[in-house]
Amino acid sequence: MPNPSVPVPRPVPSAWWADAVVYQIYPRSFADGNGDGMGDLRGVLQRLPYLEKLGVDAVWLSPFYKSPQADGGYDVADYRQVDPLFGTLADFDAMLQEAHHRGLKVIVDLVPNHTSDEHTWFQAALRATPGSPERERYIFRDGKDEVPGSGDGRLAPNNWKSIFGGPAWTRLTNADGSPGQWYLHLFDTRQPDLNWENPEVQEEMRSVLRFWLDRGADGFRVDVAHGLVKEAGLPDWDGAAAMVEGTTGPRRESHVPGDAPHAHTDAEEPHRAVSPMYPPSPFFDQDGVHEIYRDWNRVLAEYGGDRMMVAEAWVEPAERLARYVRPDEMQQAFNFDFLLAGWDAGRMADAINASLAAAASVGAPCTWVLSNHDTVRHSTRFGLKDPTTFPKGIGAGDEQPDAALGLARARAATLVALALPGSAYLYQGEELGLPEHTTLPDAARQDPTFFRTQGAEIGRDGCRVPLPWAQGEPGFGFSGGDSGQAPWLPQPDSFGPLAADQQDGEEGSTLELYRAALAFRSARHLGRGTVEWTDEHAPDSGLLAFRNGDVIVLSNLGFASAPVPNGYTVALSSGPEPASDRAAMREVPVDCTVYLLED
Ligand code: GLC
Repeated sequence: MPNPSVPVPRPVPSAWWADAVVYQIYPRSFADGNGDGMGDLRGVLQRLPYLEKLGVDAVWLSPFYKSPQADGGYDVADYRQVDPLFGTLADFDAMLQEAHHRGLKVIVDLVPNHTSDEHTWFQAALRATPGSPERERYIFRDGKDEVPGSGDGRLAPNNWKSIFGGPAWTRLTNADGSPGQWYLHLFDTRQPDLNWENPEVQEEMRSVLRFWLDRGADGFRVDVAHGLVKEAGLPDWDGAAAMVEGTTGPRRESHVPGDAPHAHTDAEEPHRAVSPMYPPSPFFDQDGVHEIYRDWNRVLAEYGGDRMMVAEAWVEPAERLARYVRPDEMQQAFNFDFLLAGWDAGRMADAINASLAAAASVGAPCTWVLSNHDTVRHSTRFGLKDPTTFPKGIGAGDEQPDAALGLARARAATLVALALPGSAYLYQGEELGLPEHTTLPDAARQDPTFFRTQGAEIGRDGCRVPLPWAQGEPGFGFSGGDSGQAPWLPQPDSFGPLAADQQDGEEGSTLELYRAALAFRSARHLGRGTVEWTDEHAPDSGLLAFRNGDVIVLSNLGFASAPVPNGYTVALSSGPEPASDRAAMREVPVDCTVYLLED
């Protein structure tokens, strides 16, 4: 019998998703088709030619379902309806049909951990009595007594904290005004957690899957996939105190070009950061979640075999994440180790090695992701003094990034990600090199984390700002012409020159770099390849160098330029130099990645 503790590498499937480049659309902010200042499905439809030209294989849409928008749509009131903000089911169908016509797959977001408080189930639970079937769909409990034996139930059932700040429990008031039971919400008060022990909940979510599969969705991005099952008895947990506060990475010198190397001193305020990875806890990464994904795997299999699921699971180490992508569970999981590595050669190489090994052990493709709607954009993170830091939002009072440095590194990091085998996820706007909006006025903020932490966490609005399509138009063309309606979040002036119309066809622009990199990746089948570190690989000196097929990827995260190996020519570079100069390049500058081909 094979030793079960030694994983046998399994072959990666040949399905479309195994090497797909997926473009994340945050519908509120991608494109506004009806001129109300809010992005919508018609806007997505209109911009499909842009995505086809960019060269991606699929789109993933963050939630567009009926929702009071207490958490940007991750608070779903009806899983089978499109919110009027975004259009109608017919708009979804038209968008999906056109996407398929253009060869683009469509992945929709599934939010199974919690519903909105406006969901009919939760409304029924509020009206129902303790112990009723309506309350059994959620996690209602009596409170603990403040005065022992008094039955006052004044204390929350346990000490869990909401991921967004504040307590994870809210107490109800009964119809007669008396205090009632408490309900669990790992996120906002308006996002009550579902009870995944309840067969009715399980059946409902199967039915939601089938609803979107029947409409033609090619897959699901599964929100908070590590959170659905809670440890029996809901025990207290003091682990939050162990979570990393302060900088997430080691202190390192910054190397602003033209600047003397500058070391952090303790007198300087480090960027406040909280790791989104939790140590083992009673509410995340419980073994019971895997049974749910085996069940869903069987539902997807009813549809012919190439539908997929990708897990949003902030778990570590990579071996724990690999459990979500075993052959009978999901197809992919976001690789947050890679995202959290930051701009640091050693950490990046470690994340690449660990994730490739863990994914290979279960026969799943790796994924590579640098930005999404929950993280400060990588073009901004990499422009901070410590480019491995992971702040939860950046405000005007915080350290401001070096935008040019951040963008150079972001472009270089993207070329690394796109040359790795597996699937890559891009977040809307990164192909324009958009920075985080780091000076949003507080009055414009919408993210519940900002309010639940009384502003201690700035939140995620800065990466959710509507895209600039045309520099000369109001709202930089987000709403297509002068609708008179300003975009729902204000755009920074820096977005103007980065608008899509300014970069289209412009040699050296970030948009053209992404187009070229995606075409190169596709032509050389890099997503189906392997990683073999080459002689030039020296993470201690800031150099990443690997071979994938006939391409050598050399990324310079160090302090001095690095020679191009003899016998090789630069085919693509993340730097600003004109393509005509590339063949003559014999040095890879700092903060640059090149793709090399043999002469
Ligand atoms: C996921 C989403 C995030 C949302 C949270 C609660 O982490 O990506 O945007 O706030 O789940 O649904």
